[in-house]
Amino acid sequence: MSVTEQPPPHPGPAPDGGAAADAAIEQLRDRISADSLTTRRDYLRIVATVSGGLAIGGVGVAAGILHRHGDNEGLPDPKKVADRLAPGESVAFRFPGEDDRALAVRLGDGSLVGYSAVCTHLACGVLWRKDRGPDGELYCPCHEGVFDARTGEVTAGPPPRPLPRIYLTEQADGSVWAVATARSGEPAKDALCRQFGDSHPVESARLGCPGSARAGSTERRPT
Ligand code: FES
Repeated sequence: MSVTEQPPPHPGPAPDGGAAADAAIEQLRDRISADSLTTRRDYLRIVATVSGGLAIGGVGVAAGILHRHGDNEGLPDPKKVADRLAPGESVAFRFPGEDDRALAVRLGDGSLVGYSAVCTHLACGVLWRKDRGPDGELYCPCHEGVFDARTGEVTAGPPPRPLPRIYLTEQADGSVWAVATARSGEPAKDALCRQFGDSHPVESARLGCPGSARAGSTERRPT
């Protein structure tokens, strides 16, 4: 089941503002918790990522000089990226920061995927081409780099790494929200645990993040 197939997390009026943001995080956390019982492939069909981070150029990023998408340690504020996204459509947005170019795509089967729109080669802008194959593709025109639309993996050209992911959720009213990021190749759970940190102890414990279980058992220990 994809995020798009889930029942509305909040019955009643469509959420907005802070309520929608909270709902988006809640939905993502529950979804990923459930995913721990399924396969990685299932997971990839549910939430999609992107986060771009290479703000200026690949050389600077490789040298550790420049900011990379996914480097945020805290959980970013959820951001509404579209009121609705139909199959085959994409939308460009900025997340988690205003300098972080990103792309959300609704694939033909209804899956939502999100990626950094910053090529992992030399940081050119990545484009969505829906007429390439059954899922379309993410294409970098600078040096003919191509990324798999469903996974973000490199399928052609010089990019050395997959596109960083951005986690998306869809609310009951059809709006699409970006709620978290991951570094290139970073497993979803690792990315979420890193961003939950100390600021979201409940979510961290429910997701089974390292250290959270120990903290929880300490809290329950009789005094
Ligand atoms: Fe994208 Fe070179 S910058 S392929």
